[in-house]
Amino acid sequence: MTDIERRPEDETQYRDHLQRSETVWNRWSDWYRTSEQDFEPFRTELITQLGLREGDRVLEIGCGPGVNFSLIWEAIGEDGQLVATDYSPEMVTKARERITTNGWENIEVVRADATTANLGGAMTQLSQPSL
Ligand SMILES: C[S@@+](CC[C@H](N)C(=O)[O-])C[C@H]1O[C@@H](n2cnc3c(N)ncnc32)[C@H](O)[C@@H]1O
Repeated sequence: MTDIERRPEDETQYRDHLQRSETVWNRWSDWYRTSEQDFEPFRTELITQLGLREGDRVLEIGCGPGVNFSLIWEAIGEDGQLVATDYSPEMVTKARERITTNGWENIEVVRADATTANLGGAMTQLSQPSL
């Protein structure tokens, strides 16, 4: 995956933007989980359309508190792998709590800015079921 190139003068502006938007998502992280049932039909439809199969490897960008994890996990099973990313520390903490609570050993959350992180590597499928 190629890194996004920004002019040096844009870099500071981007960092400011990143910090502000991270703060917003941190604040939303508690509320977000309480709303997840409202969007359940959309999530189910979207993830069904991905046509995931047992053993698939999935990358979720902007995973929030992990509201899609159970649906993806049910599709890929114990032999699959889900790597999820989010840049908000609060979202990442909540997503990891969800993993621990459910005992999912094949789901990992990486804190990263999706516009600059090198998310390529061994992933063979790309899934972005974000709302
Ligand atoms: C609308 S929520 C979607 C959460 C979840 N994927 C869902 O389907 O409900 C967007 C998420 O993307 C994350 N996000 C936004 N911009 C990002 C970036 N540049 N890098 C990583 N995560 C980002 C936010 O922190 C937030 O958790």
